[in-house]
Amino acid sequence: MKNIGNNQAGRESFTTKFGVIAATAGSAVGLGNIWRFPYLTGENGGAAFLVIYLVFVLVIGIPVMLSEFVIGRSARKNPYGAFKKLAPGKPWYLVGLMGVTAAFMILAFYTTVAGWTLEYLYQSVTNGFVNKDGAQLSLMFSEFRSDTWRPLFWFLIFMGMTAGIIVLGVRKGIEKSTVIMMPLLFVILVILGIRSLTLPGSLDGLRFLFKPDFSKIDSSAILDALGQVFFSLSIGMGTLITYASYFPARDRLLSTSFSVALTDTLVAVLAGIVIFPAAFSFHIAPDEGTGLVFVTLPGIFQQMPGGAFFASLFFLLLAVAALTSTISVLEVIVAFFVEELRLRRKMATWIAAGTVSLLGMMCTLSWNSLMEGVSFFGLNTFELLDYTSANILLPIGGFFIALFVAWFFGREKRMAELSNDGSLKAGYIPVYIFIIRFLAPIALAFIFLNGIGLLKM
Ligand code: TRP
Repeated sequence: MKNIGNNQAGRESFTTKFGVIAATAGSAVGLGNIWRFPYLTGENGGAAFLVIYLVFVLVIGIPVMLSEFVIGRSARKNPYGAFKKLAPGKPWYLVGLMGVTAAFMILAFYTTVAGWTLEYLYQSVTNGFVNKDGAQLSLMFSEFRSDTWRPLFWFLIFMGMTAGIIVLGVRKGIEKSTVIMMPLLFVILVILGIRSLTLPGSLDGLRFLFKPDFSKIDSSAILDALGQVFFSLSIGMGTLITYASYFPARDRLLSTSFSVALTDTLVAVLAGIVIFPAAFSFHIAPDEGTGLVFVTLPGIFQQMPGGAFFASLFFLLLAVAALTSTISVLEVIVAFFVEELRLRRKMATWIAAGTVSLLGMMCTLSWNSLMEGVSFFGLNTFELLDYTSANILLPIGGFFIALFVAWFFGREKRMAELSNDGSLKAGYIPVYIFIIRFLAPIALAFIFLNGIGLLKM
């Protein structure tokens, strides 16, 4: 019997290698690359930050990603079900449960920013930035953010698009949409990169991005880089456990992890090539922080020839990148509902999207007078969810995922998964094991202790 597109457990799976990479790289590539990476690089001195980031991708990011692949593909389940199946009767399922919780939180604040990209796409198309100076653009951003209906409207549209894809399933929804969106994203990035590089004075921007000055690096920059690796590669909460549960049995996990990490890094660097030369060309400081994309870029775009067109392309890029990420987070919750609560996919999707929306709407209104008074430890709802999920839940998750595969998985089973039952030579395995046994957990403990302020350097 032909069984293409279904794996042995009778679940759907991705059909082609390109589908696997488009979906997984689609999860990784997102606002983390185009919004978060450039502003962190800008704040932390440019090229030196990039070098440290690359080292962490190689020695921590890829090994943790590979560990998620091993767990997901061998269990063929959502993160909670995977740990239950692989370690029956042991408390490891709590790691999976934490992942599902983190998915709610990440989706809530991430979709808020994704909604903003739609507002900015709309503004670009309708020439909304014309004749506004820096101060006016900054005011425009803060007024929009503290409005009630507009941000909520875009939030719900974006959540609806995310749910609309997830309802269609793994192949017809996730795979089919990402094999179209990922190439589109590359084309847009390359067009924008060429535009930016052909602006007068753009070389200064390239120098900033590629000529390292290590005097700018301190311990907080190092920890920012480590946290960014986790966020950007989508690791630490079971998104990639879930996606790997849809990988075909023949997929080579190591090669997939390298392709995904490479694509993710390439997009981050390309985003830097779009943003920094343009910023330098228009004499805008690269360390503008979170507003770099929403305040600075519209200012740059409206000063350049063809600006409205390029601004529209840029915000379209941001929206597409965000969408291929939000579907991967929603899929974690939906897979959990389908497999553990025995809901139909359609029902599971709408319940998941609905409950996330309740939390997400509170996030979206974080700057609104309705929610202004709500603050925890000095953070508003959005900042609280961002902070707790990225700085606390992801590092703890990554720590336990690495330890689980390193110490509790069973040598033979691990070997079988990494070598596709002995059909691949896997000479890298000792290096990988060393990393997930010692290097990765120690580094992660370090970010975490710093994240919660127990270790201040
Ligand atoms: N990696 C995505 C980005 O860079 C965001 C993302 C998707 C994510 N799934 C995740 C982050 C899981 C952490 C965990 O935009």
